[in-house]
Amino acid sequence: MKNINVPKLLDTFFIVLIGAAVGCVFYLYRINVAVLAFFSFVFIYLIAFRHKKEINYLKLGVISSFSLGLIITVKVLSLNIYLHPLLLLAFLTILLFDDIEISFVFLVFTSFLYVFILGLPYEYMIIFAVSSLACMFLARNSRRRVQIIKAGIISSLIQLGVTYLVFTYRLSWHNYYLIGIYSLANGLASAFLLMGILPGFEWLFGVVSNISLLELFNHPLLRKMILLAPGTYHHSLVVANLSEAAAEAVGANALLARVGAYFHDIGKISKSEYFSENQMLLTYRDKHKKLSPAMSKLIIINHVKEGVELARKYRLPPRIIDFIQQHHGTTLVYYFYQRAKEKTPQEVKSEEEYRYPGPKPQTREIGIVHLADTVEASCRSISEPSPGRIREVVKESIAKRLLDGQLDETALTLNDLHIISEVFIRIINATFHARIEYPRSHGKENIYSR
Ligand SMILES: [Fe+2]
Ligand SMILES: [Fe+2]
Repeated sequence: MKNINVPKLLDTFFIVLIGAAVGCVFYLYRINVAVLAFFSFVFIYLIAFRHKKEINYLKLGVISSFSLGLIITVKVLSLNIYLHPLLLLAFLTILLFDDIEISFVFLVFTSFLYVFILGLPYEYMIIFAVSSLACMFLARNSRRRVQIIKAGIISSLIQLGVTYLVFTYRLSWHNYYLIGIYSLANGLASAFLLMGILPGFEWLFGVVSNISLLELFNHPLLRKMILLAPGTYHHSLVVANLSEAAAEAVGANALLARVGAYFHDIGKISKSEYFSENQMLLTYRDKHKKLSPAMSKLIIINHVKEGVELARKYRLPPRIIDFIQQHHGTTLVYYFYQRAKEKTPQEVKSEEEYRYPGPKPQTREIGIVHLADTVEASCRSISEPSPGRIREVVKESIAKRLLDGQLDETALTLNDLHIISEVFIRIINATFHARIEYPRSHGKENIYSR
């Protein structure tokens, strides 16, 4: 019962409520009342969720103009009304905004606009709104192109079903047959059209959808990291696993957290030997012994700046660059700060000099990667890991970051932090458990012990 996601539950509750209410009004009274009920529930929904977010009106304006253009095209070309752009718009809004409420309201009003501009009876409003909302929900967490095509097909079948419900005995079977063909063609065409125009919109909006995020798994920068900084690559994989599971548990974008974690330390590639995770794999140890603490600090902090530059050079999406820039927040490079205070106390003017420049993590996903990063590093240094010790270190690391104010600008709640820490503890325990060496039998090495 611990991991219940309240916003998600509320989402589902409202959608079920809207569906049930419209259905009841639909059968008890008449269609026009059902349309009215539909709008009322949209407003209730809006009021219930108005506390939430800032809406990017510029992006919404671009999408609205695009929608209007498509609707007018349908009218001017006198296309069949079932060849509507609403499924395409459902895909676009949910993938670009990644926000159920914005897409929900947008699609309901665009359905209304479509019916209004084409001068159709208001029954159609229900048909198109329901099919586009279904499409939005189906495409919501799509990661692969095939899921988009599936969403297109299923929502066109839903459209056919709702048309039958609305018109029941008023249309002949021949009509339903034609509507079915048009709906299916529209569902498929919308899915394929989306794949053509999505990259353009992503570029225009400076965002990256889940579908394009998947393509980053084979990015040349990651291959470069495997060769030049294998320790950092391994560290990034562990951080990615922790982050993805934690993001999933608190209802954040798990794929974004995973991909962000893969790239968070790419700035270490050029000076990989100065970072502890790579020193274990190299013959020379601790290059920092030859350097002053101030110089070491500069090299360490610079991996953020170098990462951002590298990411820009390789044209990584801004959403991923944010992970590189914000993953350390304004934390203190504690080890070298302490060393500087011991070796050259006269040169250390303030703690601020030994802090990363920030900004602090701005999203839940970056906040999660920030925590996974620190937790991974802390747990790696435990000499004798036991479940109790791992729990202690994870809880302590997260509490430190919270008290240092690093999570102030993310929307993570204390309950989220509790869930995140439990996920981290579970995964790290499982990782260490797999590494526990079994006793050797009769002097022979047990090959299964590694
Ligand atoms: Fe880092
Ligand atoms: Fe890291």
